[in-house]
Amino acid sequence: MWRFRELLPILESFGNAVTLREGNTPLYHLPRISKALGVDQVFAKHQGMNPTGSFKDTGMTAALSVAKERGFEWVACASTGNTSAAMAAYAARAGLKSLVLIPEGKIAWGKLSQAMDYGAVTCQLPVDFDRCLNVLTEIVLQAPIYLLNSVNPYRLEGQKTPAFEIAEAFDWNVPDHLIVPGGNLGNSSALGKGFREMKELGMIARMPRISVIQAAGANPLAQSFARDNGATLEPVEANTRATAIRIGNPASWRKAARVIQETGGWCLDVSEAEIAVAKAEIGAEGLGCEPASAVTLAGLKKLRADGKIGASETVVLLLTGHTLKDADYTIDFHRGTLLSEAETGGGNSAIAGEIARLRRNAIAVEATPKAILKAMKGVTA
Ligand code: F0G
Repeated sequence: MWRFRELLPILESFGNAVTLREGNTPLYHLPRISKALGVDQVFAKHQGMNPTGSFKDTGMTAALSVAKERGFEWVACASTGNTSAAMAAYAARAGLKSLVLIPEGKIAWGKLSQAMDYGAVTCQLPVDFDRCLNVLTEIVLQAPIYLLNSVNPYRLEGQKTPAFEIAEAFDWNVPDHLIVPGGNLGNSSALGKGFREMKELGMIARMPRISVIQAAGANPLAQSFARDNGATLEPVEANTRATAIRIGNPASWRKAARVIQETGGWCLDVSEAEIAVAKAEIGAEGLGCEPASAVTLAGLKKLRADGKIGASETVVLLLTGHTLKDADYTIDFHRGTLLSEAETGGGNSAIAGEIARLRRNAIAVEATPKAILKAMKGVTA
């Protein structure tokens, strides 16, 4: 990421950079998804391929470097999991102490295990993410702790670099459309800033449309766009299995709304069943991602069905987290225990059919070639 340092007004001395070699993540073509949707060029920019398995790393290398340069001893964040994993890793590299506040029982085990392994003081609070962030905001007023939530401006500087990488990959012709998941809404704001700055510098001729997709159970910005095109936000009580984006009162909603408005993008929400299907479809491309990332494909399918994306457009989905972050979710999906009947609309609904087609439960088979060959014949698609 630091090869873009001239575009990142962050450090007094580049020698203070705390890095785990983040950035330069792969951009994959999605041939099956492109064909199924009738859109030639659908790509995934996989930010889950960063050192701690999520897009947070490019922001953390930036902000942790500032914390180190300014002589802080402690850094802290409230998190739905990925921010805490990234912060704890970069703090450990820098030799700083880290404090993590997480909503108890509402983060994926992979992420919790990372915060523990990297040595953070990990506090599980019996409240949701939004309240964790409120408590932390009070703490940093009382003690010399450096706040590393995405309200930290240096996080956003680091998180704008995937925009540079996308433009570079398309030889400085940006894609028509970038689709991003929305939680606390720092990432969509940062990517918008990255494209805006490249345009101002004359590196690109136009910005891509940037659309933000939320889970239906945590959709304050989607509600806002439906109500008054992003002018006001009413917090919601958030609930979704995509725990990374289980956020009801997003801190950066104004910045994200501006990015959507200025680029002509959309803000939509998608259901739990749509997220689960989209995640399995990304898995079937050989990539995989965590549930929050899959909202991008679920959103693309809706935008395509509504005629908002044409057949000749180039679309990039921003995948934010690695599939191994939340293996429980994946296993529950394939076992058929993830979703309720109410969520799939009963066994005969179209989405239940898609789920049946995508599910690959592990099967208990006798240890004989005959039984195993028979099991292989059972594969339908
Ligand atoms: N996808 C993943 C995998 C995330 O972890 C997050 C946010 C988002 C999408 C949404 O990004 O908040 O910038 O709109 N995770 C934060 C965390 C909140 O604490 O890890 P956003």
